[in-house]
Amino acid sequence: MNQKQIHELPSNIKLGNKKLSIYGIGFVGTAIASTWLRAGASIIAVDKKSKLVNEINNKKTTNSEPKAKEAFLEGINNKKLIATSNGKWASKNSDIKIISVPVGLDKRTADLRFLYEVVDDIITGLKKDDIIIVTPTVPIGTSTKIIKLIENKTRLSVEKDFFFIYNPERISAGQAISDIENNYPPILSGSGKTSIKIANKMFGIISSKKPIIMSCTEAAEAEKLIEGLYRDVNIALANELSVFCEKLGIDFWEIRDAANSQPYSQLHKPGIGVGGYCIPVYPWLLTQTAIDKGINVNFPLLGRYTNEKMPEYSVNRIMSKIGKKKNITALILGLSFRGNVADNRISPTYDVVKELMKKKVKIRVHDPFFDYDPLLPKQVKLSCELDKVISGVDVIIISTDHNEYKEIDEEYIIKKSKKKPMIFDGRNILNQDDFKKLKILTIGK
Ligand SMILES: NC(=O)c1ccc[n+]([C@@H]2O[C@H](COP(=O)([O-])OP(=O)(O)OC[C@H]3O[C@@H](n4cnc5c(N)ncnc54)[C@H](O)[C@@H]3O)[C@@H](O)[C@H]2O)c1
Repeated sequence: MNQKQIHELPSNIKLGNKKLSIYGIGFVGTAIASTWLRAGASIIAVDKKSKLVNEINNKKTTNSEPKAKEAFLEGINNKKLIATSNGKWASKNSDIKIISVPVGLDKRTADLRFLYEVVDDIITGLKKDDIIIVTPTVPIGTSTKIIKLIENKTRLSVEKDFFFIYNPERISAGQAISDIENNYPPILSGSGKTSIKIANKMFGIISSKKPIIMSCTEAAEAEKLIEGLYRDVNIALANELSVFCEKLGIDFWEIRDAANSQPYSQLHKPGIGVGGYCIPVYPWLLTQTAIDKGINVNFPLLGRYTNEKMPEYSVNRIMSKIGKKKNITALILGLSFRGNVADNRISPTYDVVKELMKKKVKIRVHDPFFDYDPLLPKQVKLSCELDKVISGVDVIIISTDHNEYKEIDEEYIIKKSKKKPMIFDGRNILNQDDFKKLKILTIGK
């Protein structure tokens, strides 16, 4: 690709002369597709789920991410968006291929199945001057392996015939499109100078922030892993210290506020568990690279083990306060891994359920975003209406910091439960002064 072609790339994208295909229209892919549509690009949305593909093509997108539904509707109306399950067709008919499929864990190592499935599809339609952009968080060195695989399976050479960009996505549910467009600078890396120039030009269309250009794809891969690891390890420190303070009979939250009053202390919040598709996964991906290379790292595993113990620790603490009483019914508030989002992936609530089941406790779960979840054991009753699950409960466990729970009223609990349940505030969101009649146990206090 010559200088003129790179210079003209933004206008060609906006005119639809250069078409994008986006592989994996889940949470991340929806946000990416929406931002490119909002910038005027023409897009092929590719997903294995035919139901999702039909919904998009029939203007029935259900995605709740702010601004996404509107972007998809406008895209279909303006004939700038088409969805398909045929990844090979999408590769043949597009110039820029963006991969946003998930990388999960299989026995605590990276599960790269979906990523390589897409790479195979892309290879079948790869043409001269095509651009490949990879966005999932991956073990360090994955981009280099993908490039070699493509070169081996095609007659094309990177930086000469096709271009490769690794751009780890750094978005949060509920603000994902704003995150890409305005909140954070894009992290960009490439297989060489031309790919970096292309990346710079392209991301200037969708992001108002100056990109951070990394020296190599390995550095960009490590950046994303370390960004997540930093949070997991710091949450683990807060969790360990909160348990320490509880045992000494002092209040971790009071200490945290005081310590964080100077800028060099940034103690995180302890909690009943760490969930989501990113933070609990990335330490394992980094550890995988360390093991492969024979490098000793301690913090990722230490942090993981500490955080993974929190649901069990919390349930044990609750049960020791309950004592010998039998036939206990617990109500867990929150199935989402984080407050105010409809996302239950790797939620610590599942581990709280598991631990309560070991203690033969009857379990109900409330979450305003969920009334069905096949992942919960059959005997666990789930409802999105609090009134339907609160009657007769002995203990209420706050697992998610949904705003709705911050406002929960003592009189309401007593009236509806027809009991005086103990409350375990696993997120420290209640104001204890508002509770005069019920016993509250709080993490870290
Ligand atoms: N979830 C987050 O908050 C977040 C934030 C930043 C980065 N990430 C990264 O992005 C990745 C994707 O996360 P997500 O939340 O969008 O996942 P997701 O599960 O919401 O969506 C993935 C989509 O990919 C589709 N898919 C899988 N294999 C496919 C294939 N071969 N061809 C076409 N489509 C296919 C699935 O059907 C699904 O719709 C994560 O693994 C993570 O590395 C996630």
